[in-house]
Amino acid sequence: MKGKRFFPLALLLALALALAQDGKTLYGQYCAACHGAEAQGIPGAIPPLAGNPRVQDEAYVVKVVREGLSGPLEVNGVSYSGVMPPMPQVSEAEAQAIAQYLKGLSGTQAEAPAPAPQVQGDPALGRALYLGQKPLQNGGAPCQACHTVAGVGFLGGGSMGKDLTDAAKRLGGEAGLTGLLQNPAFPVMREAYKGKPLTEAEAAALAAFLVQVSNEVPRPASLYLGRFLVAGLVLLGLLLLYQAILWRLRPRSLAERIQSQLRR
Ligand code: HEC
Ligand code: HEC
Repeated sequence: MKGKRFFPLALLLALALALAQDGKTLYGQYCAACHGAEAQGIPGAIPPLAGNPRVQDEAYVVKVVREGLSGPLEVNGVSYSGVMPPMPQVSEAEAQAIAQYLKGLSGTQAEAPAPAPQVQGDPALGRALYLGQKPLQNGGAPCQACHTVAGVGFLGGGSMGKDLTDAAKRLGGEAGLTGLLQNPAFPVMREAYKGKPLTEAEAAALAAFLVQVSNEVPRPASLYLGRFLVAGLVLLGLLLLYQAILWRLRPRSLAERIQSQLRR
């Protein structure tokens, strides 16, 4: 009886949730960190999606989201050559909803792209956060645990993530990085900072530090990509394994202990 009354309620709830997950919300959740709140992109670093003729093709957008994209592109006379990671966390239906939303944006937004946000981070603070000399406010791991940056820190740091020496050049400078760091698209980093996000000030400081580093040490980018993608996947596996071990070794609760006493 209870079940029967519950059913329509659950259906209504599911419907309400589905409506809330519209293309615009999903875009803000998954894409805005890189492509910008207005889908305006960052000239020379991340292509705009509003007013982009290729984005009229919904199937193309869904494909890019699911499979990622790299290599040279040209949008409205500006060239891009970056890497968009595949986003398996976005379902086919969600990608479709985002594609529909973006199609509606094209044209109207094209004439007046919003200026990139002006952030001013403190590179010295960023350096201390990167090295773990100053802890992150929400308790996230210091970047050096996984990354290297040329010439900084003892032996340069971890080798799981990519060398970040030229990250600022490829990922939209200080503004692009500040957004990216607050909502990382890479599975390993998403996992590592889940529930422990960087604050905006921390992200801006780290971005400023990486911009400073990239200006000091020029070097080619693409060399590292393949190797580090593999390392990232391996690390994700290790993290999951570690969680599984923690779960098995968890202290037994009082209730469990009493139960096993009673059984004897
Ligand atoms: C980590 C940053 C990042 C995220 C997050 C991201 N993108 Fe991208 N996207 C890029 C970059 C960089 C390129 C350009 C790749 C290239 O130069 O080949 C790109 C390219 C594209 C293109 C191709 C544009 C063209 O002109 O052909 C589409 C479409 C696209 N992204 C849609 C999306 C959607 C939709 C989302 C959210 C579900 C998203 N992107 C999330 C960085 C990102
Ligand atoms: C748990 C390990 C881990 C931690 C901690 C971590 N990262 Fe990452 N990061 C990765 C992985 C893995 C990638 C995915 C690409 C790769 O393999 O390099 C990545 C990617 C990046 C990228 C994009 C690299 C590129 O050039 O495409 C940036 C920028 C970045 N991280 C910055 C940071 C910063 C800043 C911190 C500290 C707040 C940090 N990361 C902490 C593992 C980590």
